[in-house]
Amino acid sequence: MKIPESSVINRMDLSGRSLIKLLDFTPEEIRYLLDVSKELKEDKKLKKSHRYLEGKNLVLLFEKTSTRTRCAFEVAGMDLGMGVTFLDSASSQMGKKESLADTARVLGRMYDGIEYRGYKQQTVVDLARYSKVPVFNGLTDQFHPTQILADLLTVEENFGRLNGINFTYMGDARFNMGNSLMVGCAKMGLNFTACAPADLFPDPALVAECQEVAAKSGGTITLTDDVEKGTRNADVLYTDIWVSMGEPDSVWSQRIKDLSPYQVNRKAMANANPNAIFMHCLPSFHDTNTTVGQDICSKYGISEMEVSDEVFESPQSVVFDEAENRMHTIKAVILAMLRNFNK
Ligand code: CP
Ligand code: NVA
Repeated sequence: MKIPESSVINRMDLSGRSLIKLLDFTPEEIRYLLDVSKELKEDKKLKKSHRYLEGKNLVLLFEKTSTRTRCAFEVAGMDLGMGVTFLDSASSQMGKKESLADTARVLGRMYDGIEYRGYKQQTVVDLARYSKVPVFNGLTDQFHPTQILADLLTVEENFGRLNGINFTYMGDARFNMGNSLMVGCAKMGLNFTACAPADLFPDPALVAECQEVAAKSGGTITLTDDVEKGTRNADVLYTDIWVSMGEPDSVWSQRIKDLSPYQVNRKAMANANPNAIFMHCLPSFHDTNTTVGQDICSKYGISEMEVSDEVFESPQSVVFDEAENRMHTIKAVILAMLRNFNK
């Protein structure tokens, strides 16, 4: 199926690029990906077919678990008319009997694009190098760029702009979500605040790099351990789970101590702007309806963690719009990077 001439997709050509981290993309390229996402979202709502990548194939490699990212890539690929294969370490040779480099060279012969979720950022770099096809980072310990595109789209849908929005991230600011949100905000001119204990601030080298980026876009970067200061006049309060995939269970006790004051609750929301929204990449521990939630509750006596159930379920919470936007933005990335890519 041909892309209509009037489509925003034709405005730029990112074919052959990989999405390894958002730092590699200019604000204009990110703007383009968001605009393509909006068009594809509209097409989907209108049930307008957009099978622009028929005949192409995508493989999804997951070394960590996922609901949103996997489903978003699968549905996005299928909506674009692609063949999609899911592989995890339990059901393939990857990692145990075959190195990532060998796996990449095999997959690059069969597929037009590769999505990878796992631990090291270097693995995504190596996959792109060895496979010679575009690679999409579906989360590493360091970055989660496809999540950030969905988050930026959600912010823009709520406020009609990105520039000048006061965006506060509360919680573990030195892992994938804190890092990537700081990068995305810096690129697009938002005022980013990491509100966290100083031990969990992002890496100073990344902060310095983002400060340079923000100076060009008109955004700012602030690090504070003061909850009152960090939440004051915020347009967005964002949080993530306190212990990420791949971290040992032994860190729970200290993390609960360190991050309990940074919970997004009624008091934090009341200190933010009156029309502030609550965002979370999900999954979230806002109640005890999960096995981990129950386990933590029985060990530490807390029934809600990074966000109170009240805020999570409030009208200010846009978490499910945000989750839906994963699919539209991931579709834009796949289409933009594969449409004129021929192996
Ligand atoms: N937000 C996110 O990446 O969710 P999953 O872990 O379910 O993919
Ligand atoms: N920081 C979380 C993000 C999940 C989408 C993790 O890495 O587990």
